[in-house]
Amino acid sequence: GDYSGPLRPQIHYSPPRDFMNDPNGMFVDANGLYHLYYQYNPTGIVAGNQHWGHATSKDLYHWENQPIAIFPGAKGEAIFSGSCVIDVNNTSGFFPNQTNGVVAMYTLNTDKEETQELAYSTDGGYTFTKYAGNPVISIGSTQFRDPKVLWHAPTQSWVVVIAYAREYVIGFYTSPDLKTWTHASNFTHHGLIGLQYEVPILISIPMLTNASIADPMDPSNFASTDMWILQISINPGAPLGGSISQYFPGSFNGTHFAPADAGTRLTDFGKDNYAGQYFYGVPPTSPQISMAWASNWEYAQIVPTGQLEGFRSFMTVPRVNVLANTTRNTYALLSLPYDTTPLYTTANSLVNSTSLVNSSLLYDYSTTIPSGALQFSINITGIPLANATGTANFTFLSSVTGESIRGGLFLAGGNGDTPLWMDRGNTRGFNNPFFTDKFSTDVWLNEETQTVRLMGVLDRSILEVFLNNGEKAGTMIFFPQGELDTLIIGTSELNVGVTVSAEVYGLQSTWT
Ligand code: FRU
Repeated sequence: GDYSGPLRPQIHYSPPRDFMNDPNGMFVDANGLYHLYYQYNPTGIVAGNQHWGHATSKDLYHWENQPIAIFPGAKGEAIFSGSCVIDVNNTSGFFPNQTNGVVAMYTLNTDKEETQELAYSTDGGYTFTKYAGNPVISIGSTQFRDPKVLWHAPTQSWVVVIAYAREYVIGFYTSPDLKTWTHASNFTHHGLIGLQYEVPILISIPMLTNASIADPMDPSNFASTDMWILQISINPGAPLGGSISQYFPGSFNGTHFAPADAGTRLTDFGKDNYAGQYFYGVPPTSPQISMAWASNWEYAQIVPTGQLEGFRSFMTVPRVNVLANTTRNTYALLSLPYDTTPLYTTANSLVNSTSLVNSSLLYDYSTTIPSGALQFSINITGIPLANATGTANFTFLSSVTGESIRGGLFLAGGNGDTPLWMDRGNTRGFNNPFFTDKFSTDVWLNEETQTVRLMGVLDRSILEVFLNNGEKAGTMIFFPQGELDTLIIGTSELNVGVTVSAEVYGLQSTWT
């Protein structure tokens, strides 16, 4: 693939060419090599003809594209989304002489039915053989898909969650051998339902003892509580239109999921985060690692990277995730980018004083950060935050075309009503009524640390922002006609005593 195009992200995964959607089957092997599969049409720049594309990485940023891993068989078949597990104990019987056998479970889609099938790999996940006894689950439905398998140690059993898409049901099944499955329970009509439920994910997530500690991803702060999340994606029908993912914190006993409360929570406040998956094989005592499709079915098949650069869609950055019981006494998933420090090129402490208060600074990075990929943070401290008023904003500008991407915090002098926002309206490479401009979310200020930290990763056509310890995340894609090359950080109307500092790190392209 040619990764040099001006819209092509430089530290994010995108396919070499053609159309990609959901991440699939992600796992990490015993040598620490991460495997990413994805919904892939290798013959077009729109969805269809689904295969499982494949890429591998040691650090989740430098990816090596691999040959397609799973192919449709007969004409009219498509290999839809699914997941992989490592069958260490050879429960399936596919792996008499090895402990690293990989089993993929995916949906076979045809005009007539969606059924769940198995394919197994004896070479560590590069090539797969379809199981002769397929399908392993079939209920005679055309809307029954996206199996996510896991090993449930307490019951020594495999578990799979599958969406009965248009019945708004997530079905739970158990199995001793991945081949024979028994229906155990249903989780129905929770949260946003939209037109259909898709891509359910069930995973045990570490829980923090204290929601406001400085490093939420440090395992020494994890409680021994057994907490789970059930994530359900819906499309169409998201509050902002099209696709979105929601999650439910709760408990799981091997057959039934019990949500902790009646709430529904979105994984992201933007419009471009869908069908996320977690890597199988990350130790349960570590932050769990996810990646999602950074697009939305409302416009994924028409964005201009197709015409201009021959490919469509990116994944989000890999994210580390833990659960916290926040000051509002309600569970929240904390998500932050997986360690980017190996990618740092330049470190620029843009300002580290009160000089940024009610003024702005301009940083032209056109020559210092040739990748166009950078990480930045804005830190606000120094007053009782509940009294803070004013704004702290960032703007990424194209000095050539005048286009820009903006965002920031609007401190409104009280808890809970402080919006975090971002705006892609001033870009001209893609005009579409569903490509809405502005995204915002409420912010609950962290009174214990008395700091607001807004950090973000900008990478040519995608911005991901993260608030404080990851309690809010927003993903936004955009298509400027000129390259963004200048960062402006500014504040206005802040009260006396506020200190604002900002930092920027250039990120090295992982594709050159
Ligand atoms: C979600 C989804 C899945 C399906 C796949 C098809 O984006 O619609 O439900 O398996 O994409 O590519």
